[in-house]
This record gives sequence, C-alpha cells and structure tokens, in this order.
Amino acid sequence: MTTPILSLQGVNKSFGPIDVLHDINLEVRAGEVLCLLGDNGAGKSTLIKIMSGVHKPTNGTILMDGLPVAFDTPRDASDRGIATVHQFGGTFPLMSIGRSFFIGVEPTKGWGPFKVYDRKKANEIAVKAVRDFGITRIFDGDRLVGGLSGGERQSLAIARAVHFGARVLILDEPTAALGVKQATHVLRIVNEAKRRGLAVIFITHQVMHAMAVGDHFAVLIRGAVAADFRKGEKTREEITDLMAGGASMASLEAEIEGFVASHDRHLPQVAQR
Ligand SMILES: Nc1ncnc2c1ncn2[C@@H]1O[C@H](COP(=O)(O)OP(=O)(O)OP(=O)(O)O)[C@@H](O)[C@H]1O
Ligand SMILES: [Mg+2]
Repeated sequence: MTTPILSLQGVNKSFGPIDVLHDINLEVRAGEVLCLLGDNGAGKSTLIKIMSGVHKPTNGTILMDGLPVAFDTPRDASDRGIATVHQFGGTFPLMSIGRSFFIGVEPTKGWGPFKVYDRKKANEIAVKAVRDFGITRIFDGDRLVGGLSGGERQSLAIARAVHFGARVLILDEPTAALGVKQATHVLRIVNEAKRRGLAVIFITHQVMHAMAVGDHFAVLIRGAVAADFRKGEKTREEITDLMAGGASMASLEAEIEGFVASHDRHLPQVAQR
C-alpha cells in the first residue's frame, strides 16, 4: 500500500480539564475518501481543526507523506495542501464568483499576471474550473456567490481547492443543509476530486451519503475511534447503530415492533385533530 498523505498517531486533545479526543489513529491516502461519522459532540470538528492547523494536538503526531509535521496556523496546513471547506462553502455572498475564487491567493505565488486584479481573466479561470467539475449552469464569473444554490457554493469551494493544488480536501458536513438533488451533485463532485487523486475527508451525519462516496469509515464516539472499517465491511444498519452509540437503534426497532404487536398491529399514533 502507498504511504498515507495524512495520518494521525496517538492524537489527544484537551481543552483545560476537558478531554475531547483520545488516542486517535487515522490515515488517508491519495484517491481515497475517509468518512468521519459520529453523533453531535463526538469530536469530529475538533479532529478536523487539528488536521487543518486551527488547534494543536495536546499529544500525538501528525504525519504527511510519512514525516512528522507541525501546523502552527491554518496557513501552515494550507501551504502543505490541506484545504478545508466549511459548512457554508467558505465563500462570501457579496463577492463575484471570480473574486471569491482568487481571494487569499497571494499574487506572488506564481500569479505574476494577477498583481493587478484582472477581472476578465479571473472570471475565465474560475468559470472554467467550476465547469470542469460538471457545474455547467455557471458561465458568468460576475455572478454573486450569494445567488448560487448551497450545492453550487460547495462545488465552487471544492473546485477552488482542487484548482490551487490541494492534496487533502476536508469537507465538514457539505451535504447537511442540502436537498436530495443538490446533495447528489456534491457527492458526485467528491467522487471527481477523488478520481483526480486527492485524499478526501468527508464528515457527515447521513449514513447514505457516507456510503455513496466512502472507501474507509471511522466512527467517533465521545472522542475516540469506536470503529474503523472499509467499504463493504458493514451494512447500513450496522453503521447507523454504531453512530447511535451501540445497539440502541436495534432495540428501539424491537420496542416499536413490540408496541405494534401488543396494539393490534397499529403503529404508535401521533396526536390527531
Ligand atoms: N474550544 C473548546 N473548549 C472546550 N470544549 C470544546 C471546545 N471545542 C469543542 N469542545 C467540546 O468538545 C466536544 C466535541 O466537539 P466537536 O465540535 O468536535 O463535536 P462534533 O463531533 O463536531 O459535533 P457536531 O456533530 O455537533 O458538529 C464537545 O463536547 C464540545 O463542547
Ligand atoms: Mg462539528
């Protein structure tokens, strides 16, 4: 197997007396999607903040390409090719597509011609990058980001990360606020990023979304990796149960089944008018 692009070894994180992450061991390889699952408060966002340089681990090691690294700032992580897309796409509603695509990109980093903002050129590059990801409804780089749909905004942020050479793409709940059609679109774009050889870390509460793109899954429960498995090793029901913290879903189903049996095959009723 190839060396993981990014791995965590024995990572712990405490905020003062509160232990949030315990002995996390995880790795992600090029061309692979790692889905990070877990209930609210399990530590998912804290974990990706460690990977993206927002927090430092209290203990443990982060490795890139097998070598230990330390991120003092988010900039250190992004300079090494770790791109994090936050829930609302990390974009700015009142900015044009072209502008937001190039924001924060230092003109000195290989962007000589952009020392003076070249609107036409920026729009061309941004629109092409987005269209290359299959978002063909976008053709005007002057359109404001605020007028895009949630799925289009996520797609813009992902296309941007890929364009600027990200090797690791971290997506914190990119499909959480989206309808079925838009979520499907974002999932397709995640697959495209993977096809292009990025390592993707995908955080979600939705087991179906995880199963649609994941090669590797890790379930966090109260700050620890409670399960770590590969595609095909667990069923949807097993993953749902794990996320709910054990057998609770199965026993809930049994409880409902018992209720139905003892109430003449009628389902529990919600108060009716
Ligand atoms: N800066 C902080 N100081 C103290 N406690 C924190 C801090 N950040 C997070 N926590 C705690 O760490 C735990 C994990 O939080 P985290 O945001 O990582 O969870 P999560 O898995 O992302 O949850 P969600 O699914 O709701 O986004 C929570 O109990 C939270 O209150
Ligand atoms: Mg979170």
